[in-house]
Amino acid sequence: MRSPRLRAAGSCLTLSLTRGRASSLAGRPFFLGEVRLASRVLMAPMMGYNERAMRRIFRRFGSGLALTEMIKPEKLLRGDADVIRGLDFGDDERPLGAQICGRDPEPAVAAALALRKRGYDLIDLNMGCPLKKEVARGRGAQLLREPEQVRKLVSALVSALDCPLTVKVRAGWEPGEITAPEIARIAVECGACAVTVHGRTKMGWYREKNDRGVIRAVREALPAEVPVIGNGDVVDLASAVSMFEETACDAVMIGRGAVGNPWLFRRVNRFLETGEVLPEPTFSEVRQLFSEHMAAVQEMWGEKAGYRQVRLYSFYYFGRFPVPLMRARLGSTRSCSQLFSLLDDIEREARECGVELVASPVAPLPSEGGGD
Ligand SMILES: Cc1cc2nc3c(=O)[nH]c(=O)nc-3n(C[C@H](O)[C@H](O)[C@H](O)COP(=O)(O)O)c2cc1C
Repeated sequence: MRSPRLRAAGSCLTLSLTRGRASSLAGRPFFLGEVRLASRVLMAPMMGYNERAMRRIFRRFGSGLALTEMIKPEKLLRGDADVIRGLDFGDDERPLGAQICGRDPEPAVAAALALRKRGYDLIDLNMGCPLKKEVARGRGAQLLREPEQVRKLVSALVSALDCPLTVKVRAGWEPGEITAPEIARIAVECGACAVTVHGRTKMGWYREKNDRGVIRAVREALPAEVPVIGNGDVVDLASAVSMFEETACDAVMIGRGAVGNPWLFRRVNRFLETGEVLPEPTFSEVRQLFSEHMAAVQEMWGEKAGYRQVRLYSFYYFGRFPVPLMRARLGSTRSCSQLFSLLDDIEREARECGVELVASPVAPLPSEGGGD
C-alpha cells in the first residue's frame, strides 16, 4: 500500500506553490486578546466531540487552543450534572476557552463569570448555531438578524469579563441575508477581540457551499489587528492552506475534519512552518492513539456507556483506511473488547499480506447535528 505515501509526497510540490501568506503568518505569534495561542490552527467547538480527552489530544497534536462545546447558560447556572461534569479540565489543555450561547445579557454574563472563575482563559460567544431550539430562544444564528441585541450582549459580556471575549458566526441567515460582516463589526466595536466565521448561512445548514468570500468580507470589514478565523470544510492540508490564501484569515478552525484525525493539526502546522508535508499515519500509529483516547473515554463514562462513544470514534479513526467493509465490521462489534480484537485482526491480516496500511488524507466527517 504505497500509494497514499506517494500521494502525500506528491502534494508537497503542488502546495509549496501556495505557501505564501500562510507561511508568513506561521512565524508570527498569535494572540486572542492577551492570550497567546500555540498555533494558528484551531480545533472547533463541536457538541458531542469536545470531551476532555479529545481536547487534550488536539492540543498535543498542535491545535492552538482547546475549546469546550457550546454551553447553555441556564443549564450551567442550575448545576446540570452533565454540563458540570464536562467542565473539568487539566492545565495541559491551556490555552483553553469555553463557548457559551446566550441572548439575555444577565444569564449570559453570570454563566461567563462562572466559567471564568473555574479558570477558563477566554470565553467564546456562539452566534451561529442553526438548531431550531436555540434559534427559537433567540440565540445562536438568530442573533445574526438582531444587531441591537448583539450590541447589548457583547457589551455586557466584555464589561463583566477580565479575559478575552471572542465570537463565532455563520455567514448570515440565508444567502440573500449575509450579515456576518456587519455583526462582526458590531461585536468588535463592543469589545470582542476576534471573530470566527463559518461561511455557510443558517438556512444552508451544511448543504450549502462554504462561502470563503464571506470570510474574506469579514476580514476586510474589521481592523487589521483583530484576528479573523476562517472555518468550514478544512479537511486536509490543501484545504487549510487555501483557506489562508483565499480569505486572508489569520487562523483556521477545523471541526469535523479533525475528529479521528488530530494529525491534521500537526501536518498543517509543520507545513506552515517549514513547507514539509508529513506522511499520513499508519494503522498502528492510529491504533495506538485510538487506544489511549478510548481508555480516557471509558474512564470518564465507564465501560458500558463509554462503548457507544468508542464505536462512534472508531468510524472516524479507522474509516480512513482502505480496508473493505471497515465501517460494517466496526459496527458489528458489541463491546470494547470485541472492537479491539477486530482491530488486532485487521492489523494481523495486513501484516500477513505484507501490506502497510497508511491513512488516506481525509477522514469520514461526523454528521451535522451540531450547534455552530
Ligand atoms: C456534530 C457537530 C457539533 C457542533 N457543535 C458546535 C458547537 O457546540 N458550537 C459551535 O460553535 N459550533 C458547533 N459546530 C460547528 C463547528 O464548530 C463548525 O463551525 C462547522 O462544523 C464547520 O466547520 P468544519 O467544516 O471544519 O466542521 C458543530 C458541528 C458539528 C458537525
